[in-house]
Amino acid sequence: MSALFSELRLKGLTLKNRIGVSPMCQYSAVDGLAHDWHLVHLGARAIGGASLVMAEATAVSPEGRITPGCTGLWSDKHAERFAPVARFIKSQGAAPGIQIAHAGRKASTYAPWEGRGNLPANDPAAWQPVGPSAVAYGADITVTPREMTLDDIRRVQDDFVSAARRALECGFETLMLHYAHGYLGQSFFSPIANRRTDAYGGSFEGRAKFLLETFSAVRAVWPERFPLTVRLGMTDFLPESHTVDESIELVRRLKALGLDLVDVSVGGNSPDNSGIPYGPGFMVPIAARTKREADIAVAVGWQITEPAQAERIIAEGDADIVLLARAMLDDPHWPFHAAKALGLPNPKSVLPPQYHRVG
Ligand SMILES: Cc1cc2nc3c(=O)[nH]c(=O)nc-3n(C[C@H](O)[C@H](O)[C@H](O)COP(=O)(O)O)c2cc1C
Repeated sequence: MSALFSELRLKGLTLKNRIGVSPMCQYSAVDGLAHDWHLVHLGARAIGGASLVMAEATAVSPEGRITPGCTGLWSDKHAERFAPVARFIKSQGAAPGIQIAHAGRKASTYAPWEGRGNLPANDPAAWQPVGPSAVAYGADITVTPREMTLDDIRRVQDDFVSAARRALECGFETLMLHYAHGYLGQSFFSPIANRRTDAYGGSFEGRAKFLLETFSAVRAVWPERFPLTVRLGMTDFLPESHTVDESIELVRRLKALGLDLVDVSVGGNSPDNSGIPYGPGFMVPIAARTKREADIAVAVGWQITEPAQAERIIAEGDADIVLLARAMLDDPHWPFHAAKALGLPNPKSVLPPQYHRVG
C-alpha cells in the first residue's frame, strides 16, 4: 500500500491521493482575467492525476497583483473566467483550489521573462505598492511602499472576503490565503518588513493581528464543508526574521479560528536568501514539527521531486500532502510516473481513460 496514493480527508473533501499542484503564477492574465492558458495549464495537471490543483496567487485587488499579468478575483467577471477552470479540474476527479493574495510591497514588478524588479514609475502599467511600513524590499524591488492606513487595512481585508466569496461561486473547493513569500500577509508578520508602532506591528500579537483578522473574516464566508488553508512563510532563516516558534504559535491561533491545513513555506521578506538551507525536501523537518506541535494537517513543498522521497514524507507522517511546483512544470503526469515508480498495481488508473493506451 502506498501512503502517497492513499486518500486524504479534509473537511467535506476527499482527496484521491497526497499529491497536489502548488500554486504557480503564470503572469499571463489580461486585466487579471484568466483565459485559455490557465485552463490548459491547470487542466493538464488535473489530467495528470494530482488530487489537488491550486490556481496561482490570485490578487484580491488590482494593486494586489505581483505583475500586470497576474490573475485577479476583484470582480464577478474575473470569477466567470475562472469558473470553467475549476469545473474542468473537478471533472478530472481533482479538487480545484485557488490561492488568494495581495502582493503588498512586492507588487508592480515585471514578469520574470520581461525584466527584473519593479516596473519603472513612468510605465503606464506601474502602480504604487503598499505595505505595512514604508520600507522597500530591496535588491531589484526598490520602490518604497506606501504605509497602509487603518482604512487601507480594512479595505484589503474586505477585498480578501469578496475574493473568497467569488472563489466559492466559481467552483473552487479549497481556498488558500497567501501568507508567504514576502507578500502582504507575510510582510505584516515579519519584523523585517513591519516596523509599525500601532496595533498592527511590534510584538508577536501586533504582527499577527492582520493575518488573524483577515483569516477570521474569510472563515466567516468560506463554507465549513471545504478546507480553508494558509500558506505560511515559517521563517526567513535570518537572525532578524520571525522564528519558526512564532510561526507555529500563529498556526495554533489560526487553527483555533478554523484553519484546516497549513502549507509550510519560506518567508521571502528579504533578498538575503543566504540562510535558507536549500536541498531536497529542506522544509520537511519544519513541516513535521508544525504538524506535531500545532496538531494540524500540513502540506509541504520545496525540492520534492522523487516519488520515493514523496512517499517517505507521507509514510513517515511528516506531512499530509506534498505540493509540487517545478516538478509539475517538468512533468504534468508526475503522479502517473510516481505510481509506476512505486510499483502500484495499476498505475494507468491515475490517468483518465482517454490516456490508457500510454505505454
Ligand atoms: C513559475 C512559478 C510560479 C510560482 N508562483 C507561486 C504562486 O503563485 N504562489 C505561491 O505561493 N508560490 C508560487 N511559487 C512557488 C511554488 O509554489 C513552490 O512553493 C516553490 O517553487 C517550491 O516548490 P518546488 O521546489 O516544487 O518548485 C511559484 C514557483 C514557480 C516555479
